[in-house]
Amino acid sequence: MDFLNKLVIPLSPGHIEWLHYILMLMFFLFIPFISLIFGGTALSVFYRKKGMHENNENYLNFAKDIIDISTINKSMGLILGLLTLVISILIYVQLFHSVNTSIENYLIVALLLIFIGLILIYTYRYSLTSTKNFDALKDNPSKDEKINHDFNKLKKSSKNLSLQTGGYGLVILFIAIWIFIGGVEIATYLKEWANKNVWEILFSLTVISKLIVFLSLSAAFTGSFLLFKFFYWGGGIKDISEDYASFVRKVGIRLAFTGSLVMPLFLTIDLFDLPDNALSQAVFFYAVLAVILVFLGYQFLYAMSTRKTTKYSSTIFFIILLTIMSVVVKDQLAMINSTKIQTAKLSIQYEKIMQKLTEKTEVSEISGKEIYQKICSACHSFDHKVVGPPYAKTLPKYKGNVEKLVSYIMNPIQDNPGYPPMPNPGLSSVQAHAVAKYILTEVKKYEK
Ligand code: HEC
Repeated sequence: MDFLNKLVIPLSPGHIEWLHYILMLMFFLFIPFISLIFGGTALSVFYRKKGMHENNENYLNFAKDIIDISTINKSMGLILGLLTLVISILIYVQLFHSVNTSIENYLIVALLLIFIGLILIYTYRYSLTSTKNFDALKDNPSKDEKINHDFNKLKKSSKNLSLQTGGYGLVILFIAIWIFIGGVEIATYLKEWANKNVWEILFSLTVISKLIVFLSLSAAFTGSFLLFKFFYWGGGIKDISEDYASFVRKVGIRLAFTGSLVMPLFLTIDLFDLPDNALSQAVFFYAVLAVILVFLGYQFLYAMSTRKTTKYSSTIFFIILLTIMSVVVKDQLAMINSTKIQTAKLSIQYEKIMQKLTEKTEVSEISGKEIYQKICSACHSFDHKVVGPPYAKTLPKYKGNVEKLVSYIMNPIQDNPGYPPMPNPGLSSVQAHAVAKYILTEVKKYEK
């Protein structure tokens, strides 16, 4: 998508950090919403079929209630389902435009499919409402035969429409989510997946296990949202029979429980599957936090189920929402870790552009320290490994030879096993001299 690359602006390390925060925020909105709409539609279509089959009024009412609740309203769909994704796509373009990846193509296809899926699902929702209105009218047949005939025809087509749109919407949304996960994961597996095609990516263990995590989160979140809306929000829904309330409570608990049951296993698979350069303590922390939250959720679900109460509806809802958030943070941190080189390259580009803009004032004084802090420190530290090796390990072999170090900095060639190649920082000879002198002096503090 070349036109998107025109929107790219140079990014300082500070900007990049902000983009990561905004991306995380977008996912905090998008993921819960899309899991709710997916879970709600699946449940509604299921109970509608079952209700028509068994002629059960409770099931049919439930099918309508749940789709009303889970789709919230059209403008929410527009903002949470589409706008958040559009913003995310723009951020991915900014972050990855210089690498040859297809991330944004995946996300744009996902966006279009979600758009179509949402249209179908909202159509399903409104046709359920009109079917219900038709049903209410059927007890007062008109005296005119022709009107009755037309009325029945209309009623039938509305019923068919609702069944089909719900099912199709669900399938399209599922495919969209699958492609979305594939696209997002490319960022974390940039190096590993460089030569893989779409099918290899979509059917990789990584994407499939992420998809299962999504489905289980979606079930758990939908179940808990049902409990929350029926029994907690604004004091709960009042005008429902005890029979119906107990049915809703059972379905909500069962759904939340089933979803939470599957999650820990696939979260673990997911963690072990991450590439080494994506791992960090924080990634572990959020993965473990998600699992602990799930277990905490079990406790409350169990209490709710044995004590036949609706008391913990809101607690469970917030626990599962927090679980989703930890999973999102974990995935984003893994992505940030594994794209550190990419980020540093963007900062180098930024520095170059800024240098061009300020060329005239530049000549006066060049501080090696400043260059080190702005560029090199993204990948280097003196005493420990960052992306590149610690200076205390590599600099001694230059034995204070500035010229030799300068020639390396201006034209880095692969040297240390176990490290990726260092990208050319694109410094001028004067700048390279300044930074070489600075790090050679500074490193003495770390020798013995
Ligand atoms: C994008 C990350 C990145 C940036 C930015 C970066 N480096 Fe490196 N650097 C590396 C990596 C990775 C290696 C290991 C490369 C190898 O072994 O070939 C490395 C290796 C080195 C080495 C060791 C060379 C040797 O002989 O073993 C020196 C010295 C060095 N960098 C200096 C710098 C300086 C000075 C800067 C700033 C102007 C800088 N680097 C910026 C990633 C980076």
